This record gives sequence, structure tokens and C-alpha cells, in this order.
Amino acid sequence: MNKSTESSTLSDLQMWRYVVKNIGISQDGDEILWTLEEARKFFGRKIGVILELGSAYGGSLLMFSQLLKKGGKIISVDPGIRGKLLKQELIRQKIPNIDLYFLKKKSEEFGTIRRIGRILRGERIDFLVVDSLHEYDQTRKEIEIYSSMMNCPSLIFVHDISMRHEERIKEFQKISTGDFWEEIKYNYSYLERCSKDRKHSFGAGLLFIQTES
Ligand SMILES: C[S@@+](CC[C@H](N)C(=O)[O-])C[C@H]1O[C@@H](n2cnc3c(N)ncnc32)[C@H](O)[C@@H]1O
Repeated sequence: MNKSTESSTLSDLQMWRYVVKNIGISQDGDEILWTLEEARKFFGRKIGVILELGSAYGGSLLMFSQLLKKGGKIISVDPGIRGKLLKQELIRQKIPNIDLYFLKKKSEEFGTIRRIGRILRGERIDFLVVDSLHEYDQTRKEIEIYSSMMNCPSLIFVHDISMRHEERIKEFQKISTGDFWEEIKYNYSYLERCSKDRKHSFGAGLLFIQTES
């Protein structure tokens, strides 16, 4: 685990503690710390651009900012459903060296895609976080749309991969991210981690993009 970074002076564990106490996060600690480790191994350097689809209060956004270089960019997309509003000021204070864009929009809408294109201005996404609706169709759409804007090499993080068909249907009458994950993961090099703590674990998946599409 890193002791310090250019974008923040906190270790991952210190940032986790800050986020849990001050921001709120719907991730499992073990899964997100593992993700940071794997991403660092894969990239071997700091990265430039993160796009997060589904930020809620901004907890995972702050955790993933640990991967960014100074002057890096985070674009967060979240319409703020059910009053989950980003704690923008706290986030800005915590990572003042990062360029932050908070789009209060739905990821799949044309206007959002166009806006992101304008923000990127020719740059490409290094790390895509897919953590919005956790439904099969939404996850498929988001990966299809935004993988065309990704760098090579780059990484897609998919949250909530462990809740499968029957469980999801029972709870939400919909097939889920977990079902799509089972289909798509074999098209990539991938890793997955499902913490044993089922109370907080929803499963984290990583898709590694290593060749130009
Ligand atoms: C599970 S929460 C995200 C949790 C956050 N990544 C974290 O770890 O703290 C899911 C979020 O997705 C957002 N959301 C729902 N529909 C969306 C859409 N179409 N596009 C982008 N975000 C969406 C919701 O408003 C909600 O805040």
C-alpha cells in the first residue's frame, strides 16, 4: 500500500478511514483496497483520467483519486437519485490538486456523453468506474458507450458483480450487473474479488484493456 501520493498525502487506509467517517461509501473496505493495489500493479504509474458512473456521496471517488497524478481529472456522473448528493466541498478540500467535474446527469444520455467528450478534449479514460444502477441493461450500455473512450492500457471497475440472477430478481425483479459480468468477463483479462463479509460485500470486478479495439 502506498504511503503517500502526489494528489493526496494520505495512505489508502487513512483515506478509507476519512471516507467512512466523513463522506459515506457503499463499498467493502477489503474490495476497494484490493482494487487500488491491483490497479497500481497494472498501470505501474499514476494515471490521468477517471470517469465514475454512480458516485452517490463521493466515497469511492475519493478512494480512486489515490491513483491519480497531480493535475489529473475525475469526471463524476450521478443524477442524485433519492437525495444522495455528492459532498462536493469536502471532496474539493481533500484533493485540491485534481480537476473535478461533477455532472448531475444520467450516464446513458446523449447530452452526458457529449459533455464528457468536451471535458476530455482528446484525452482518454484510464479508469472507468461502473457503479450506477446495477442492472444488466444499464451495465451493458455503460460499458459499451464508454469503452470507446478508453485509453490503452486502461481498466474498468465494475461494482456489485456478486449478486446474481435469482437473488436480484427476488429483490428488484430485474436481472443484474452480476449476470452481465458473467457474460462479459471472458472477453477480457479479468480479476474479481468478493469479500466474505456478505453484509457489506457486493463484489468487485476488474476488466483489463491491453490492446486497441
Ligand atoms: C451504489 S450508488 C454509488 C456508490 C458510490 N460509488 C460509492 O461507492 O460510494 C449508485 C448511484 O448511482 C446513481 N445512478 C442511478 N442511475 C444512474 C444513471 N443512469 N447514471 C449515473 N448514475 C446513476 C444513483 O443516484 C446512486 O447515487
